[in-house]
Amino acid sequence: MGLYAVCAAKGSPGVSTAAVALGMTWAGPAVVADLDPAGGDLSLRYRDVEGRPLDPDRGLMSLAAAVRRGVEGTDAQEHLQIAEGGLPLLVGVTRPEQITALGTSWQHVAHALATLPGHDVLADCGRILPGSATMPVLTRADAILMLTRPSLEELYHLRERLRGLSESLRLRNLDAVPVGVAVLAGDRDRDSVPDVQQVIAAAGLPATVLGAFTIEPKSAAALRYGLDVSAHRSLLLRSAAAIGEAMRKLAATRVTRLH
Ligand SMILES: Nc1ncnc2c1ncn2[C@@H]1O[C@H](COP(=O)(O)OP(=O)(O)O)[C@@H](O)[C@H]1O
Ligand SMILES: [Mg+2]
Repeated sequence: MGLYAVCAAKGSPGVSTAAVALGMTWAGPAVVADLDPAGGDLSLRYRDVEGRPLDPDRGLMSLAAAVRRGVEGTDAQEHLQIAEGGLPLLVGVTRPEQITALGTSWQHVAHALATLPGHDVLADCGRILPGSATMPVLTRADAILMLTRPSLEELYHLRERLRGLSESLRLRNLDAVPVGVAVLAGDRDRDSVPDVQQVIAAAGLPATVLGAFTIEPKSAAALRYGLDVSAHRSLLLRSAAAIGEAMRKLAATRVTRLH
């Protein structure tokens, strides 16, 4: 079904937390795939439904090995693990060196994730740099979500990365991949959302601000060490549900533009 890339221009604004929060509140079945080239966090943060550690060898690397072997119609489902709370995860790499070894498999991994039957995939792509290993995932995505904090310097980096991203998408003739931006903001500084939209519009960049991800340290800490369903009532998860809704709408504009 749909493939949604979640990433940041710089820093550590909370991409992994956002990917998990989106997965937990997604309308319909969703998988969170840990594709962060800097090394995965999900297998370290979460446990399986019986409280055991997740298997670090079953995930992105085993899926990549399967697609490399050219197994016809590789079923990405076999490489998923169900975490506590029932959220299916594709665990990432333990060492960044493994990412380099994936080489050309990325395209096939992206294809396997985009065509996963019955599930949308929220792919934590970490930070996006020019020539990022995860570029094939971004170009294959139905929508890309960039997270940012509203500080002046983060907005500057966001603007430059959006410029670079739209250029790479255009070079690949893929300027139809819609890009959304979510702003990490405290409940009281939601005013920063229109400011971010203004910065993007003034730069003439093809990205839409989808809203705010609530900064809520307690809920973020709870999500870091467990997928507690009671956290569903948190402002953070409520904001994730709204961003998720906006992402699906954004992805629908891609279909329109492609046809
Ligand atoms: N919405 C949020 N509100 C408060 N703290 C957050 C939020 N999202 C993330 N954090 C905190 O920020 C730190 C980095 O989060 P993480 O999701 O791992 O970021 P990234 O994947 O961008 O490196 C963690 O300590 C996390 O608990
Ligand atoms: Mg992360």
